[in-house]
Amino acid sequence: MTRRRRVYEGKAKVLFEGPEPGTLVQYFKDDATAFNGVKKSTVTGKGVLNNRISEHLMSRLGEIGIPNHFIRRLNMREQLIKEVEIVPVEVIVRNVAAGSICSRLGLTEGAPLPRTLVEFCYKSDELNDPLIAEEHITTFGWATAEEIEDIMTLTLRVNDFLCGLFTAIGIRLIDFKLEFGRHYEDDEMQIILADEISPDNCRLWDMATNEKLDKDRFRRDLGGVEDAYQEVARRLGILPESGPNDLKGSNSLQ
Ligand code: TMP
Repeated sequence: MTRRRRVYEGKAKVLFEGPEPGTLVQYFKDDATAFNGVKKSTVTGKGVLNNRISEHLMSRLGEIGIPNHFIRRLNMREQLIKEVEIVPVEVIVRNVAAGSICSRLGLTEGAPLPRTLVEFCYKSDELNDPLIAEEHITTFGWATAEEIEDIMTLTLRVNDFLCGLFTAIGIRLIDFKLEFGRHYEDDEMQIILADEISPDNCRLWDMATNEKLDKDRFRRDLGGVEDAYQEVARRLGILPESGPNDLKGSNSLQ
């Protein structure tokens, strides 16, 4: 078995050197963490599902002209991606109040927000991803004003598209987190969407029942985490042909 160079290991994914320069292999683990790694477990099949869900969403976004890092899926747990220089800012989009904004501002979970809200957090595990303002991003040089403009334009387009896509399958897109990177090609730099889009970094509620179909099931010990992710994949029409058993796929890293 050939060993590959590990470029980066995060809480839910590992990045390996890709087959060609400028590419990486993104491996999805079954590891689940919350509260900045304080709560840890594994959710069997999560990596397989997130690989498929992120492939599907990034591909659909690519089709409507949202540049992103996804190239192609390689196997059950891996996808080939474009190498980018990650902008150290997490972009949070909120359509409905849930999660940290409720405790921060005293809002009731489920209350619609007057309009879509975009928040920024500084990507730093040591500092617990603190909420920041646009001013911090430019002051500390994490991104330029032009890059932030590109990020905002892309973010709002992603939100519009994903809201429609999920509405069509009976799911409300409550909020989600995006990450962007700088992609360099032929002396040109372009801001593109990176990381993943999956129930790990979105809040997805069933429209009819408000049932949570996302990582809040793990964060809040609601049970049925894998079933919820599977339900999202099923509604997106991307469950493997052979059914849920296929999802186990070895979690061992090569
Ligand atoms: P929050 O309500 O905890 O701030 O989360 C907002 C959204 O961002 C939610 O969809 C979950 C996602 N998220 C991440 O993807 N990674 C994180 O580290 C955190 C805190 C939230």
